[in-house]
Amino acid sequence: MRRKLVAGNWKMHGSLAENEALLSGILAGMGSVTADVAVCVPFPYLAQVQAKLTGSAIAWGAQNLSQQAKGAFTGEVSANMLKDFACAYVIVGHSERRAIYGESDELVAEKYAAAQAAGLTPILCVGETLNEREGCITEAVVARQMDAVIAKCGVSSLARAVVAYEPVWAIGTGVTATPDQAQAVHAFIRAKVRELDAVVAEGLVIQYGGSMKAGNAVELLGQPDIDGGLIGGAALNAEEFLAICRAG
Ligand code: PGA
Repeated sequence: MRRKLVAGNWKMHGSLAENEALLSGILAGMGSVTADVAVCVPFPYLAQVQAKLTGSAIAWGAQNLSQQAKGAFTGEVSANMLKDFACAYVIVGHSERRAIYGESDELVAEKYAAAQAAGLTPILCVGETLNEREGCITEAVVARQMDAVIAKCGVSSLARAVVAYEPVWAIGTGVTATPDQAQAVHAFIRAKVRELDAVVAEGLVIQYGGSMKAGNAVELLGQPDIDGGLIGGAALNAEEFLAICRAG
């Protein structure tokens, strides 16, 4: 039986004071949560989050990393640096990184490999744009994004990863995929993995992301192949985030 994982993606939000209040609020309500919970925060706040969450039921991670292990790569952050702050997770291939920073499928696969090499669990984001959905190539796009990682690291690597299906048109827009729309793509991803390895497919946690909030979480998380959420805007409010966690 897969456990649900609800992860906050804070993006470029927060301050020391805001994070303190947000984390205190989430910690105070964790007693009624059975899902696994994590927060993925900006690099400068990893030390704060580590200090605040060590010993709690909440794991933490980053939102990006370098594909390189070390060296002259100004401005980059390596997987081992994230390990120094006891990160469990790192998001790779978020659509904002793919679209705004030009990250290719191959680069995302390299980052995924670098994360796993350091013992981090990558949260691999996949998903189609509105144009791609309207062009009926959603499955082809998601398959291509998955295949890049499978080609580089093998299907067995997915036993140590999380996949987040995030339709780009639903991210930060307030437009959520319907439970049926999301379930269809989640089932497609699992079936694709099952063709290669049935055991890995059954154990694979596939999160949904894209305007998930308290009001739609129960229905989305009730779908058979939706195993959690990657939460942007709603993760910045303790009560809203907790309500999603409780739905998991
Ligand atoms: P959103 O973002 O919940 O604000 O739509 C989700 C994400 O980008 O991971």
